[in-house]
Amino acid sequence: MNLFDVYPLNNVTIVKAKDSYVWDSDGNQYLDLYGGHAVISIGHTHPHWVRRIEDQLEKVAFYSNSVQNPLQVELAKKLGEVSGKEDYQLFLCNSGAEANENALKMASFHTGRKKVVAFSKAFHGRTSLAVSVTDNKNYVAPVNETDNVTFLPFNDEAALEAHFTKHGNEIAAVIIEGIQGVGGINVATESFLQLIRRLCDQYGAVFIADAVQCGYGRSGKFFSHDYAGVNADIYSMAKGMGNGFPIGAIILAPHIKPKHFQLGTTFGGNHLACAAALAVLEVMQQEKLMENAAEVGTYLQNELKAIPELKNVRGRGLMIGFDVPEELAPLRKNLLTNQRIFTGEAKPNVIRLLPSLALKQKDAQQFIDALKNEIAALKEAATAQA
Ligand SMILES: Cc1ncc(COP(=O)(O)O)c(C=O)c1O
Repeated sequence: MNLFDVYPLNNVTIVKAKDSYVWDSDGNQYLDLYGGHAVISIGHTHPHWVRRIEDQLEKVAFYSNSVQNPLQVELAKKLGEVSGKEDYQLFLCNSGAEANENALKMASFHTGRKKVVAFSKAFHGRTSLAVSVTDNKNYVAPVNETDNVTFLPFNDEAALEAHFTKHGNEIAAVIIEGIQGVGGINVATESFLQLIRRLCDQYGAVFIADAVQCGYGRSGKFFSHDYAGVNADIYSMAKGMGNGFPIGAIILAPHIKPKHFQLGTTFGGNHLACAAALAVLEVMQQEKLMENAAEVGTYLQNELKAIPELKNVRGRGLMIGFDVPEELAPLRKNLLTNQRIFTGEAKPNVIRLLPSLALKQKDAQQFIDALKNEIAALKEAATAQA
């Protein structure tokens, strides 16, 4: 049997990983500024995370959600404490798409409405409802097409206000990433998020904060939406939550009341996943990783802004993007092959940095030096050719 050919792949096989580093099958070491797509939050194979999963594995790995699971209660308490959303309610699932699927369903159950507002360049996942609020035609199968979703321009306050004035009473939810990831690291303005809050309150709609990529401390605050100083009604999360162990969740504000069987899951919140997620939060607290993300992120952004060839450096904390001009198009590939540094991308020409929140300043410096070398080499090659 062959694999279904889903993505173009880098020709690298990773066999070992530690902190912000990975090693390939030939023994080469790489600096990982991609974090397996923003998933590695506390660092690869963190010893506390490994131990907590191993310990749990010895006890019970899985039992269904038909019995009490004190680990879920412990996780809810810890997540409330670290995120500051202590009065919210936790529903556990397995991925980001699933989290958004459940968030949208709950918004619809809660309001009794069907219409959803999403934004240009949004990415919310690939399952049915999640992909219907994703602004990329290539991901949307005919069966996912719906009249229930309106895409408005990102950060356009007048367009949002006009849409609510006309259709506000039909809107179940507004869903927005605090910082768009797949869309190319576009930061939602604080005033835009505040306007969403005000309009959702005025018209009785649910504000869904997709924090799958920009959440869990990556921005330097627990939720990047927190920079706006307003609360969403539902936050979705996944990626960094398990540091690579699959787990996702939504947290719901207290006014959204649960009814039995509206949501459900077989694997969500299993014992092993809870152990992994607890380990992540414990390490985040102990090692002050949100503070580190803010500090090292600011350092990186300042260094990047000082490189004249790079355009439009943006982001928050350790979620950073910049535009690469056409003449430096091979830069990302060269960073991987010549410097052994993994970075992320966004179409058409954005390099995305999504490293572990424990990234050290010396690693950031290594990247900046490597980047400067590769830019100089590309410019030299272009001059030689001219
Ligand atoms: C903002 C956002 N939402 C949702 C998802 C979907 O998450 P998953 O791939 O875990 O389903 C992603 C994945 O990249 C994402 O970046």
